[in-house]
Amino acid sequence: MRKPERPMEDKIKAIEARIHAFAIQTREHLEEFRLQFISKKGELTSLFDELKVASAEQKKLLGKALNDLKKLSEEKFKTGQDQLESAAVGQSFEGDLTLPPIPNKIGSQHPLSLTRYRIIEIFERLGFNVEDGPEIEDDWHNFTALNFPENHPAREMQDTFFVEKNPDVLLRTHTSNVQIRLMKNRKPPFRAIMPGRVYRNEAISARAHCFFHQVEGLYVDTNVGFADLKQALYHFAKEMFGKETKIRLRPSFFPFTEPSAEIDISCLICHGKGCNVCKYSGWVEIAGSGMVHPNVLRNCGIDPDVYTGFAFGMGIERITMLRYSINDLRLFSENDIRFLKQFKAVM
Ligand code: DAH
Repeated sequence: MRKPERPMEDKIKAIEARIHAFAIQTREHLEEFRLQFISKKGELTSLFDELKVASAEQKKLLGKALNDLKKLSEEKFKTGQDQLESAAVGQSFEGDLTLPPIPNKIGSQHPLSLTRYRIIEIFERLGFNVEDGPEIEDDWHNFTALNFPENHPAREMQDTFFVEKNPDVLLRTHTSNVQIRLMKNRKPPFRAIMPGRVYRNEAISARAHCFFHQVEGLYVDTNVGFADLKQALYHFAKEMFGKETKIRLRPSFFPFTEPSAEIDISCLICHGKGCNVCKYSGWVEIAGSGMVHPNVLRNCGIDPDVYTGFAFGMGIERITMLRYSINDLRLFSENDIRFLKQFKAVM
């Protein structure tokens, strides 16, 4: 005699009980579990098929129960798999050589590294080299050579960590020190970008930290003009944030550039309409820039009547936050695996 058709609810309950009761102790059990409950030909798939032809009311009622069941089976499978793997780690090679190898857990690249690589990639195609400089710096390279006058309030624009025993030693407040090291030690022309970590004595919040990262850019040659600066940064903005991106230059002040400009990009979130990311202005600042001040060239032994150049500096955190819609700077340094694993795996 044919058994009467059981309503779906009963089937779900019965399968749930069997999943709970299933003991996964060996790889064979794991595979059996997979075939019964997880695989495309498993029992859950046929229940989902049944649900497809059920009435709208039934769908509403049973859809959730079925999804929960699916989750339960997947979790049980994963737990079983993890347990078998960690047990296998302890086994010697004299055990079962037919066991599949334990997969390596692959880490992921830090979002700040991903952004740094992308910035480098974009500027390398414009012929920029990557240069490096020290994080522990002296006053001359961090300030004086960059045309910050002695005792001038400009120095206070950046809250500096000094070493008490020797106030000439400090943690660099920006990557602009590398401009100086480069221009002092080599002959022009220069076309370089200089990524690195910088430090400022700031209270830690969602928007500020006592250390962060910048990329400096420098292009010095005969005949470099403001139009080159604008074009290079416009190209960068489009490559980094998409072809539709617009830029805006606002007059600004830095001791080491004249004229100076802040570079804004059109807001990626609201496309200029106004939102809280761009504080309803439609624009977001991404970099400071300008034409290298003649005094800076002179301080490095370069004749400003022969050579001109542009420079810029941007925050890697800032660009990363815009790129991935991240709203708290602290996430970058907390090492929370749930945050970090959302980014691209290392191959
Ligand atoms: N050093 C500046 C800062 O940290 C950023 C900057 C502005 C760098 C203009 C530059 C530049 O090279 O030209 O705030």
